Amino acid sequence: MDLTLWQYQFRIIMLGDSTVGKSSLLKRYTEDLFLESINQTVGVDFYVHFLEVEPGVRVKLQFWDTAGQERFRSVTRSYYRNSVGGLLVFDITNRASLDNVKDWYAEVCEHVQPHKVLFVLVGQKSDRDSEGERVVSRQEAEKLAGQMGMPYVETSAKNGQGVREAFELLTRRVYQGLLSGEVQMQEGWDGVKCAATHLQRASLAQPNKGPKEDKKCCP
Ligand code: GTP
Ligand code: MG
Repeated sequence: MDLTLWQYQFRIIMLGDSTVGKSSLLKRYTEDLFLESINQTVGVDFYVHFLEVEPGVRVKLQFWDTAGQERFRSVTRSYYRNSVGGLLVFDITNRASLDNVKDWYAEVCEHVQPHKVLFVLVGQKSDRDSEGERVVSRQEAEKLAGQMGMPYVETSAKNGQGVREAFELLTRRVYQGLLSGEVQMQEGWDGVKCAATHLQRASLAQPNKGPKEDKKCCP
C-alpha cells in the first residue's frame, strides 16, 4: 500500500488524566512498542497511522496526544475543536480517572459546539486485572459509556489486548458518521479532510505521476 495516498484524513484526540496510558496506547498502536518508563507528555504530541476502512478507502489518522496534567489544559483545549473523534481514556486501577472522564467529556462538548466529537471510552491497563488491581468493573464502565452515548473497550498497551480494536472501532465510527451525514465536512473546520485537495497537490508536484485514486472520496 502506498502510504502517501489517502482518501480521508481524520483528526483524533486522546484525552484523559495523566498516567492513564494515552501515549502508551498510541505507541502500541503505531509502533507496536511498550515502554515501562515513558516521558509524560508536555503540551501535545503528534502521531500518524494509516488504516484501510474498506477496500480502496485509506484513512490517514492524525492523532493529537494531549498531556493529562492540569497545567497544560489551556494548550490542549485549543485542539478540541478540530478533532472529529477521540479516545476518552481512564485506568481501570484508578477510580479518580474514571470519575474525571465525565468532566473531560463535558469540557470537550462545551468547547466544540456546534461540532461534535465522536468518542470511544477506553479502560486502560487491563493486564493489571490478573494482578487483582482492578477497581473499576467492566459493567460500571459500560454503564457510563452508555450514558454518554459511546462504546466501551478495555485495552492494555502493555500486552496489546484490545488496542487495535479501540482505534479501529473509533475510525469506523467516524467513517460511518461521514457516510450517514452525522459528520459533515465544513469550511474552516479541520476534523476531516477529503483527499481531493491532497491528491491534486501531489499530482501538481509530480506531473508525470498522477494520483492513483481507486475510490472517490467525498460521499
Ligand atoms: P500524560 O502524558 O501525563 O497525560 O500520561 P499518559 O496518559 O500519556 O500515560 P503514559 O502513556 O505516559 O503512561 C504512564 C505510565 O503507565 C507509564 O509508566 C507506562 O509504562 C504505564 N502504562 C501505560 N499503559 C499501561 C498498560 O496498559 N499496562 C500497564 N501495566 N502499565 C501501563
Ligand atoms: Mg502522554
